[in-house]
Amino acid sequence: MFQLTRSVTWQALKQLQQETANDRIKDYFTADPQRFEKMSLRVGGLFLDYSKHLVSDAVLIKLLELADHSALVQRRAQMFSGDIINVTEDRPVLHTALRNLGDNPVMVDGKDVMPKIRRSWEQLRQFADAVRSGEWKGYSGERIRDVVNIGIGGSDLGPNMASRALLKHRHPELSFHFVSNVDGAHIQKVLSRLDPATTLFIVSTKTFSTQETLLNAKTARRWFLENAGPDADVGAHFVAASTNRRAAMDFGVREENVFEFWAWVGGRYSMWSSIGLPIALSVGFDGFMEMLEGAYEMDQHFLSAPFAENMPVLMALVGIWNLNFHGAETQAIVPYDQALHQLPAFLQQLDMESNGKSVDIFGHPVDYKTGPIVWGQTGSNGQHAFFQLLHQGTRYVPIDFIASLKPEPGVEEHHFALLTNMLAQANAFMEGSLKGKGEGGGRLDPYSCPGNRPSSVLLLDELTPKNLGALIALYEHKVFVQGVIWNINSFDQWGVELGKRIAGEISERLDTQTQDFDASTQGLLALVRERFRT
Ligand code: F6P
Repeated sequence: MFQLTRSVTWQALKQLQQETANDRIKDYFTADPQRFEKMSLRVGGLFLDYSKHLVSDAVLIKLLELADHSALVQRRAQMFSGDIINVTEDRPVLHTALRNLGDNPVMVDGKDVMPKIRRSWEQLRQFADAVRSGEWKGYSGERIRDVVNIGIGGSDLGPNMASRALLKHRHPELSFHFVSNVDGAHIQKVLSRLDPATTLFIVSTKTFSTQETLLNAKTARRWFLENAGPDADVGAHFVAASTNRRAAMDFGVREENVFEFWAWVGGRYSMWSSIGLPIALSVGFDGFMEMLEGAYEMDQHFLSAPFAENMPVLMALVGIWNLNFHGAETQAIVPYDQALHQLPAFLQQLDMESNGKSVDIFGHPVDYKTGPIVWGQTGSNGQHAFFQLLHQGTRYVPIDFIASLKPEPGVEEHHFALLTNMLAQANAFMEGSLKGKGEGGGRLDPYSCPGNRPSSVLLLDELTPKNLGALIALYEHKVFVQGVIWNINSFDQWGVELGKRIAGEISERLDTQTQDFDASTQGLLALVRERFRT
């Protein structure tokens, strides 16, 4: 039985970590004037600089060997060709088919799924065009002005993040709102600003069984009928993106307005499917297809580039080096771009729901760390919040800095300041400032920053739908590569399912005394019960 941590390569990397532990990243630059050129690469409109990590040439060679000795080539081929790699849910994993712009078939159960994917594009195109042009009318004959996406997790984060990222490409007469939280305050706040005659609700739920989404959708429908009148046409204002056509129709959605997708699309990988409908409405179907095109190009790069020149593979390996060999517990995502402010939340689900696993695909507990804790927020705001800890705290936190090179017209000066701040931070994290070291009887100067803290910089030529698609696909594949090397299933989420099941069991017992739970849960439930009865 292959054991990752016992492998010769893993052991060699452990040895290298000890040998290089006192190295300084900046010395690597002095020793090798070509380091930046060697440790940076471009794919389409994306440029990655991973030179500011404590990765020597020898380390990189061993990391690449780790990828070579893993099942990556085989598992990558299996994913793209529709083999069942999500073994616990007995499913293929085919978000890549949703953006397959090539003419190769993708087979599931002996049938090519590409014709139905292309039909779903046509359905999205027609609907997006009708709403955007104003041809689609609400019950009073007015055009749609507000679109409310009701969904949670992958049925919220992807379209939410992408619509905000591409805000400047948005249709000028449409506004977008995203309701996810089961907290009624969320939907109440959104509804309070809307006119039912000009509002379109998209009920986005793969299963059409998620408690939060169904409650929010029912509240929206009730609000609609109360304000528009009991006979107003629900079907003109509610559409759905779901694999569960029957349940969506029972809710009141017209059959032709259930935008289909399939069980082999994971929730957190679903923005490329009809779950991306808000994106198509916002930037237009052509813009949506550009996003797919960017992702497709990243897929092709991931499939064909040698590992040493493969952006997702390199990002994954550097992440593994920081996490498994340098003990980094977390990964910070810091976009220096206000439009990308939802990106950390999106990547948090993508990475943590995928690789938050402690059992390998053979059912054995792993004896190494898996997925990092992903967190972050925009720069330069973060500089004035948590960067202090990153500069001088006791933790080792790798950072992904992300920015777009192209400035917004009219605010070029701001953009220049944004980018220079980002470069300054990446430099400061590496260089630190050790001027006071040794002063005062050997004590460290409290003003000094130790530096030697790792970061990558990802530059987009411009924040276009295409480059955004490539960026998201890049992270998807990074997560995939890490999952393969850690030998875990990145595509199930049984922890989340457990929470859903227990929430159901607790709510069933709201009206009855129960001994079914632990004393704490029962005690707290008693307080909730009391409050609901008064
Ligand atoms: O968070 C768990 C999860 O199952 C995600 O995978 C999914 O995106 C989300 O819940 C919502 O599920 P659904 O789209 O079925 O409502």
